[in-house]
Amino acid sequence: MTQKTRILLGVTGGIAAYKSPDLVRRLMERGAEVQVVMTESAQRFVSPMSFQAVSGRPARSDLWDGAAEAAMGHIELARWAQIVLIAPASADFMARLASGQADDLLATLCLATEAPIVLAPAMNRVMWANKATQANVETLISRGIRILGPDSGNQACGEVGKGRMWEPVKLADSLLEPPVNAGLMAGLNVLITAGPTRERLDPVRYLTNRSSGKMGFAVAAAAREAGAHVTIVSGPVQLQTPAGVTRINVESARDMYAAVHRQVSDADVFIAAAAVADFQPVTVAKQKIKKQGVAVKLDLEPAPDIIKSVADMAKRPFVVGFAAETNDVEENARAKLKRKKLDMIAANQVGEGIAFDCDENALTVIWPGGKVEVTRGPKLDVARQLIALIASRLPPPDGSPRRGSRKRRTVAALPRDRVRARRARR
Ligand code: C5P
Repeated sequence: MTQKTRILLGVTGGIAAYKSPDLVRRLMERGAEVQVVMTESAQRFVSPMSFQAVSGRPARSDLWDGAAEAAMGHIELARWAQIVLIAPASADFMARLASGQADDLLATLCLATEAPIVLAPAMNRVMWANKATQANVETLISRGIRILGPDSGNQACGEVGKGRMWEPVKLADSLLEPPVNAGLMAGLNVLITAGPTRERLDPVRYLTNRSSGKMGFAVAAAAREAGAHVTIVSGPVQLQTPAGVTRINVESARDMYAAVHRQVSDADVFIAAAAVADFQPVTVAKQKIKKQGVAVKLDLEPAPDIIKSVADMAKRPFVVGFAAETNDVEENARAKLKRKKLDMIAANQVGEGIAFDCDENALTVIWPGGKVEVTRGPKLDVARQLIALIASRLPPPDGSPRRGSRKRRTVAALPRDRVRARRARR
């Protein structure tokens, strides 16, 4: 018989705690053994008896409970866990975790465990968006803690927004499938451009490029999954921001250029997935240009080349471009790689039901001296493979040989080294 995964489920004080007994059942259905640990405020929402009934184990809550400690001390409990899942994770609990407090049993267990910690936040949308909460989230992610959710939607407080705990089934499924590329970019700053830009001609008209932004957003989600701090500078698109990604909305190529250059000094990796307009009107008409039944001449100038401007920086991040080509994909992409001095380029053939406005893509990823074909698949899968390739090509922090040639270093050790070296450089 295969061994059951031992999950320590922490329940903190929030209305979403009413879903946690169901979560216990979903985890057990998937072959897990679950020990529940509640904070004091969680017990105001759900009775410990409900958890005992569904998990078959008394729920623990008190660091000072002599009998429970005698049966399995808190350090033993911390060792017992193979995964620590906190669902719901309240704003208060995340703050306590971020500051390393050990003022109740659950916080103590989180400090004392070597098991991976996963949080499923749930709170009012304003509390979630609060800078203090977001700073705590960033801190926790940079320490390798995985955050699942929150979702957007109706909230118990009557508001609508981001802060709902993921549903138990989604949580159980995601928890038990290993995260893709986990930790591969932990603590790195990744800056991504996505979507089209709009170049205004007059108050009602603009020039643009065909782009849904889906590939850039998928790359942002994949980088985030890999543990990076991700900022996406996006042109006008109809897409939800992936969980945990910071989004800056822009309209024109000029706006995108300015937003990128405000962020780029902090970036370790820059990925330009935006379909930036090639031309911009020299002037924008203040009033609607009237139809006069004759041909109109537009004065256009080249839009700023954002990726090239980043690649030209003296202290530059690792620069990855995209190339959408209709013909001679590889040849054109190689020329672009060289001309724009990129570290890597992801090229794709456009048309044939892939790339534009659709959910699938296929890439030829090229860097000086190497090439990998990423076969056709959902954009998120393709993006995950691209992120793994980027991570494998990132230069080591101290000028030592690339990761592949360093046999002794573990994958887990790499990102932290890199982050430390990057901080030291600043
Ligand atoms: O449009 P083009 O094929 O030259 O795009 C190649 C790469 O350059 C893409 O990564 C795109 O996001 C980037 N680019 C840019 N600024 C431009 C044009 C393209 O960053 N003005």
